[in-house]
Amino acid sequence: MSDKLPAEMAAELVSPSCSPPILLSTWSFSVAGAKLAWPTLAAVGAGAGGERDCALEACLQVCGEAERDPRVDSVGYGGLPDASGRVSLDGAVMESPSRCGSVCGLRRHLHPVRVAASVMRSTRHVMLAGDDADRFASQHGHLEAELLSPEARAKWEAWRSDPHAVDQSRDQAAAAGRPTDGGNGAIFGASGMSDLLAEVVTTGELRWREHDTVGVLTRDSGGRLAGACSTSGTPFKVPGRVGDSPIIGSGLFVDPGAGAATGTGTGELIMGVCGAHLAVEEMRRGAGPTEAIIEVLRRVDRSYSILPHHQVAMIAIHADGRWGSAALRKGFLAVIHDEAGCRTVEPEYVHRAD
Ligand code: GLY
Repeated sequence: MSDKLPAEMAAELVSPSCSPPILLSTWSFSVAGAKLAWPTLAAVGAGAGGERDCALEACLQVCGEAERDPRVDSVGYGGLPDASGRVSLDGAVMESPSRCGSVCGLRRHLHPVRVAASVMRSTRHVMLAGDDADRFASQHGHLEAELLSPEARAKWEAWRSDPHAVDQSRDQAAAAGRPTDGGNGAIFGASGMSDLLAEVVTTGELRWREHDTVGVLTRDSGGRLAGACSTSGTPFKVPGRVGDSPIIGSGLFVDPGAGAATGTGTGELIMGVCGAHLAVEEMRRGAGPTEAIIEVLRRVDRSYSILPHHQVAMIAIHADGRWGSAALRKGFLAVIHDEAGCRTVEPEYVHRAD
């Protein structure tokens, strides 16, 4: 299948109005990627269509930076393994309902979003899984890589030998039997974090188990929207577990006529309400981006018994260029890069006080 877009498909990808470019991403560890990717996004000239795929390429660059960074223990190399000690990676990309791709359960390739983009561009399918997805990646020129870092392996060994270790397959039991969570759900104290993440903690960002997906949304000056997300999933998860990130409509959804949304947090909660799709549909019905996410958080809160270690946070860009973020609990930071520069921002809304 050709990589070139027919003119009518390019037009379909452009959201209604033009305005300065913006890049929005999850968690402060995406600052480096946002700065790296900004020139790609900012280079797009104004006008219908913009330059093809730059909005998506910028998303891939942000994710790629986190995927390469061994200090980010929830994405790519350095991501924490499953209960069997093996890392598996999930990711998705999306420009529109007819332009999306995803992979889950990669064990031999470092950049799930790049492989997801190959699925989107080179096949008639949306999603590939497991060993066959790795094989597809190799066949499409993606290099194989070791995913388990020595630090991640050491954390897995510590988890395995901890008699109080959280069994990720039994949420209720985990919450009851883990007093060291101290109510904030943090899986690693600052002492267990890299310098980078310890520094982040001092800025008020709290990291929980089960989230910290890097999610990125872009809107170029031509009005083209794109999104991508990448994760190693729940630390020490049941082997084979797949969360929200590679599921189109759960962890990521982009519709040029309405907006784009992506999530981070406890994947199971986001999946149960089809979080990203719900946020985009709320924007289609007239909600602003933050208001749309608030509806997702209300649904999550109504649908689940929220446990201390649960978190859900989302970012969204409306088709008209407005953007917003909101979280179930405090501790989430988003990153915005616009023409004024790159900065971390608190979510506009936090749903729960606890
Ligand atoms: N939100 C990422 C995951 O649950 O896998």
